[in-house]
Formats: sequence, C-alpha cells, structure tokens
Amino acid sequence: MRILSLALWVLLSFSVAAEAPQKAAIASAHPMATAAGHKILSQGGNAFDAAIAVSSTLAVVEQQSSGIGGGAFWLLHRAKDGKNIMIDGREEAPAAAYADMYLDENGDVNRDLALYGPLAAAIPGEIAGFEHLAKYYGKLPLSVSLQPAIEAAEKGFPAYPRIIKTIERKAKVLKRYPASAAIYFPDGEVPKEGELIIQKDLAKTLKAVAKHGKAGFYEGKVAKKMVKAVQKHGGIWTLDDLKNYTVKEREPITTNYRGHQLVTAAPPSSGGIAIATILNILSAWDLTALKNDGNSPKRIHLITEAMRRAYRDRSIYLGDTDFVEVPIQLLTHPYYAAGLRAGINPTKAMPSELLPGINDNPKGEDTTHFSIIDTEGNLVSATLTVNTGLASGFIADGTGVLLNNEMDDFSAKPGEPNAFGLIGDDANKIEPGKRPLSSMSPTFVFSEDKVAVLGTPGGSRIITMVLLGLLDYFDGNDVHSWVNKPRYHHQYLPDKLYIEKGAFDAATIEALKAKGHEVVEHRGHWGNMHAVSWNKKTGEVDAASDPRTTTGSATVK
Ligand code: DON
Repeated sequence: MRILSLALWVLLSFSVAAEAPQKAAIASAHPMATAAGHKILSQGGNAFDAAIAVSSTLAVVEQQSSGIGGGAFWLLHRAKDGKNIMIDGREEAPAAAYADMYLDENGDVNRDLALYGPLAAAIPGEIAGFEHLAKYYGKLPLSVSLQPAIEAAEKGFPAYPRIIKTIERKAKVLKRYPASAAIYFPDGEVPKEGELIIQKDLAKTLKAVAKHGKAGFYEGKVAKKMVKAVQKHGGIWTLDDLKNYTVKEREPITTNYRGHQLVTAAPPSSGGIAIATILNILSAWDLTALKNDGNSPKRIHLITEAMRRAYRDRSIYLGDTDFVEVPIQLLTHPYYAAGLRAGINPTKAMPSELLPGINDNPKGEDTTHFSIIDTEGNLVSATLTVNTGLASGFIADGTGVLLNNEMDDFSAKPGEPNAFGLIGDDANKIEPGKRPLSSMSPTFVFSEDKVAVLGTPGGSRIITMVLLGLLDYFDGNDVHSWVNKPRYHHQYLPDKLYIEKGAFDAATIEALKAKGHEVVEHRGHWGNMHAVSWNKKTGEVDAASDPRTTTGSATVK
C-alpha cells in the first residue's frame, strides 16, 4: 500500500509542471533579520547565504531565543539536484562532562547549575554551521553575509517588549555576571522600549568570524577569552572542546502521509521521528472529514492519543545516534504505527501510566525559527536555540557571546523532568561529546502541486505545533492559517492535554473530559511559527508569521 502511494506520488510529482518561484519569501521572528535575508539575496546570494544572514542577525536582535553561543538545525533543499540535508549545528557536551554532573550529595538534580551560568553551557555550534553553509551551499563569503549582523551589533537595535520581559524575568541571574549586566542593564536599568541595545564585543567577535571563518570563534583570541571566562565562573570548557567542534550532515527523516512527502529533522532531534510516528498512526483516519462533520472532539482525541504514544517513545529510545542506537526504522515504520493505533480506544483516553514506559512547563518563544524560499526553488527551514530565554544568562567577558544552557536538554537523571517537563532515560544521559536530544523540527512538505516550509520554537511543544500546522496544511488551508491555528499538546507525562487559552469552546472541552482527558487550559499562547509556501502550478509564493508575537516578519519580494 505504502509502495503504491509512493509510486503514485512520484508519478504525480512528474505530471505537474513546476513553475519557478516568482519571488523570494522569508518569514522570521524579527523584521531586521528578514530584511537582512532579502538584502543578501539582492546581493546575489541564494537561500543558504540568506539563512546565514537571518541566523546571525537573529543572534544579535533576538538573543533571548538563539545566538552564536547556541546551536541550530538548518534543513536544506537544494533545487539544482533535489538534495535534502540537515546541517546539525547542535551544541555538544564538553569532554569533562559526565552523567551525574548536576546531582547534589542527595542525588537530586541541582536545577540552578543545570540551567544558569557556564556549567549549563554545551559547546556552541552555530558559527561552525555558518562556515559550513557558506562553504558547501552558499555563493557569498561570510564577510558579506555576516555584514547585517555586524552592523546591528555595532549600531544597536531598539529594545522591544518580548526581550524586555525576558531580561526582567532573568534579572537575578544576569546580574551575577558583569559582562551580562553591562549589556542588559546598561545604566543599571532594564532598557526601555525603543532604547538601543548595543553590543560592541559581539560585533568584534562576528568580525573575527567574517575574517577567519570558524577559526575566528573556535580558536585564537575569542576562544581563549571564552574558556577563561567559563572556567573562572565554574564551567568546564577547554580550548580543545572548542577546537574539536564540527557540524555534522544528517540524512533527514522522511515519511509519506496520504500522498504528501515529508522531509524533517533527524536525531539528535526527536522531532522528525515523533512527527513520523504520529502521522503514521493518524494516516488510517480521514482527519479532514472528521473535522468537517462537526465531530472535532473525536479528531482532537485521536491526535492526542497519537501524541501520547510518540512522546512515550521519545522518553525511552531517543538520543544522539552517534552514541546510542535509536531504532529509527522501527519507530517510523507504518507497521509499528499500526500496532500503536490498534491500542487506541476511539472513545476513551489511555492513561499514560498504563503504557509500558519509565512528569507545568514554560511556554515557548525562546528559540527561533525561520523559513526561506528563493527564486531558484532552494529552501531553508531552520530552528535555532540557546534553550530557555536568555539561556544560561552568562556572557563570556570580552566576547559578547551569551552562552546556551542546552545541557538541560539531556536527561540529568532518569525520569527527572527538565525545563520542559520532558523526561528521558539512558539514551539521553550526559556523555562527553554527545549532543543533547532536541525537539526542534524544521520541516518541508512536497505535495503534488505545493511545497510547505515550516517550524517553530516552543520546547517540548515544538513537535505538536509543527504537527498541527502540517495537519492544517493537509486540510487544504494556507500558510496564514497554519501559523494561526489554536494549539494543543500532550507529551505522555505529565498525563495532561494542554490547550492554549481559548483554543476550544466549553462543549469541546467537556467532550474531551468525558473521554477521560485531563484538559488544562494555559493562561496564554505558545510558539512563534514562521512559514513559507510555494504553489508549483502558478509559481506564487506566500509567507506568514505567527500572530502570537508582535515582531514576526514575513515578506515576499
Ligand atoms: O532543542 C530543544 O528542543 C530545546 N532546547 C528548544 C528550546 C525552546 O524551544 C525554548 N522555547 N521555549
């Protein structure tokens, strides 16, 4: 059946004459980043050069979400040969890291150490990713594509409510470290809206990268300053850790859903595998029809039960495939999904504790996603992160580099929830040189006459947000609808169905409760999705940014 539908898809994809995109489309979390991407395109760059410009500008103007002290997954589609590849610039545990490094004398996880200051920081991957993108996929040198970011760091960018709120929330931690306090409390105060945040040291660091490439960050003066600052404040990085960091090219996870071909994130992300499992489970049901017959609690119930099972598998099996064997083939196989589907009661929720296996979470805007399509048909779907808002709170003196707190994405202790309430086991324990399991899920869909590029931040909820965006696309809706769609989420443990404020009406909530779901309505909204689409029949492109945040910027030029 699967082979048949694949064959049909191949046939269909050849029968549609593809019109090149008439324009380029970029959707990102900040207008300066989107503008930087378009500028690089206008200077002769392609989508991959634009991705460097967007990423590096976000690293300056949206550093609560991503940065050069953090990491990223860039999912690429190269039009000329149809190659799909994931550039894994995920952070990596330093050589001196060990499984119990965050446990206190009673065996309890010290959450402060796991989240704040340089001991929480893994070796960053973003800069290595820039060099790789420029060298193997782009057309322009880093000195050109990093220019908008350098200018933004040197001249400053106006503070806006989202970054101001994050600085206020994180004030105590930021004030522990003089280099952080100097940036975020320039006159001893949180910057006011519109006030310029200027980062001279960060500009110098970016210039070193523009001149020397990766070596400008991982070796030489910048590296020495970072290691000195990290060690002074209790961290364990060495110069060798930095020098040894390399990006990895990963084969994306691919799956087929009712005639649509999905290309999505590979490990060390859990996202692609979880999305494939969920879609395989759901593929037996005509969800679009279920929605349209007015019986939406049934649709929500089935989707929730599929989410529960995929997140159960995430907690048991998933980790960095360079360290643990992850049964990818099994987990993404339609037969495996059929087994999971058979265990779903169409009218009753299955308590998570009854599933064989091994525990309120922050909402997610810290981390960032952007989507690009250029006029050649090259695509980039990239999710970038420093983990939680303003990360470890630690800027390494003299470098302007805010270090990530990605070590918290490891399982510090089996069954112990991390910042997103996610639990894990040995597959995701801390080991030197290992990459922490991520939920970031940059995704492409190739359909008969359309292409979709999407993703979002949001910690553990990234996977279910991308899933709901995809399902909305499969329902036939446009890019503006995917980013708008009300969101709900189940992650196995805690055994709760989280919904955004106002996502469902009272009757739907009652119907879900009657099926046995513990429905928890969130105080607000979550995510920050940025997506682009291309209609291959007409050549038209479109772009949309999540209406939940005010700085999103989607432009077609
Ligand atoms: O890689 C991950 O899954 C997390 N570090 C992403 C964090 C995130 O999305 C934060 N936003 N709330």
